[in-house]
Amino acid sequence: MSDLSRPTSIQGVFLEKIAQDFGTPLYVYDGQKILDQIHALQKAFSGVPLKIKYATKALSNVSILKLIKKGGAGIDAVSIEEVRLGMLAGFSAKEIMYTPSGVSFEEIREAVELGVMVNLDSIPLIYQYGEAFGDKVPACIRINPHIMAGGNLKISVGHKTSKFGISIEQLDEILTAVKKSGVKIVGLHVHTGSDILDAEVFLKGANVLFDAAKNFPDLQFIDCGGGFKVAYKEGDPETDIAEVGEKVSSAFQEFCKNYGRQLELWLEPGKFLVSESGYLIVQTNVVKETPSVTFVGVDSGLNHLLRPMLYDAYHDVYNLSNPDAEEGRYSVVGYICETDTIAANRSLSKIKSGDLLVIKNAGAYGFSMASNYNSRVRPAEVLILDGKAYLIREREKFEDLIKNQIIIDL
Ligand code: LLP
Repeated sequence: MSDLSRPTSIQGVFLEKIAQDFGTPLYVYDGQKILDQIHALQKAFSGVPLKIKYATKALSNVSILKLIKKGGAGIDAVSIEEVRLGMLAGFSAKEIMYTPSGVSFEEIREAVELGVMVNLDSIPLIYQYGEAFGDKVPACIRINPHIMAGGNLKISVGHKTSKFGISIEQLDEILTAVKKSGVKIVGLHVHTGSDILDAEVFLKGANVLFDAAKNFPDLQFIDCGGGFKVAYKEGDPETDIAEVGEKVSSAFQEFCKNYGRQLELWLEPGKFLVSESGYLIVQTNVVKETPSVTFVGVDSGLNHLLRPMLYDAYHDVYNLSNPDAEEGRYSVVGYICETDTIAANRSLSKIKSGDLLVIKNAGAYGFSMASNYNSRVRPAEVLILDGKAYLIREREKFEDLIKNQIIIDL
């Protein structure tokens, strides 16, 4: 399912041409790939009433959200701003799940006023929610199942000491809070981490919810979160979606039988839907040979793609301008005044100054984690759909860096 090729064109549109037309650094997304991923997930869970709630935080451009809607998915939002982006993209309130962590009650109230389902993440919040809305506005509860999962500790969020959700060991307190507050609970949720390879982990998370569900008579859905791992390089394993689909679906159907009602199964994939769709095209500014390393300095860095530095994440890189040249060893580094190594000690076809490089798997948590560090502007974004390249975000300008500054007279 994963695409480990190093394309020079997408849907017949040449990447070199797009870089010429829109400049670099440039985020490019293959819209068809996003639709294919949605369909692959729908297929893997075709035996159950599935609702996909795309994790907006992975890539939140409104045109991408519109495409996700076209593919038949809803969204999961983690801020009121993401809720609003979703609505701007045309999602109805019913298609949006709001899963905040430790936000102010004003934000929760705003989401409720917009008609969006809220995922309650603490016991005090259950009480507060009940006080404000009684049994009139149904909600979901995020359970922390105490499962250690995910590619690294920074993206493991379902273990005992994680800040997320309400510990499954506090089930009695949850039930007391629900009873006293009067909140109608219609959903239970887990999300244990990102880059989860093992299908069993998803089943384990689901089973925690199935066990807890007998205490909640009004359930309409079970939300198993996201976290499917994608491949970042040749030989890199990825989550077997068919296996997860089979395991979780059959356990879910069995659960529904015992529960006495057919519920919906919700999933919240981020990376799985958009990671592989994204390519960050950068230009080489300098090839710098040192006694130990040949550095390739590019017109981007941790301000545009933070994952390699934050998580030691591996992103495949290739030379778009000169794909068939003899290979050399390079470290591709950014232009930020930090050690922002994008790719260390890689075998790449010979690079010269001015060459275009492509950084793969840049769709998820690429642009959405970009910043203006070093007072650099953020890249433009282009979506390729039906063989056409659409500019879906302009490159920032110097004026954008200062537009909210109030420059005082001194
Ligand atoms: N649902 C919830 C409640 C989440 O917090 C997340 C991700 C997802 C779903 C989607 O997870 P995914 O399918 O994308 O793995 N910046 C990190 C990943 C952080 C994920 C945060 N939560 C990275 O670049 O690896």
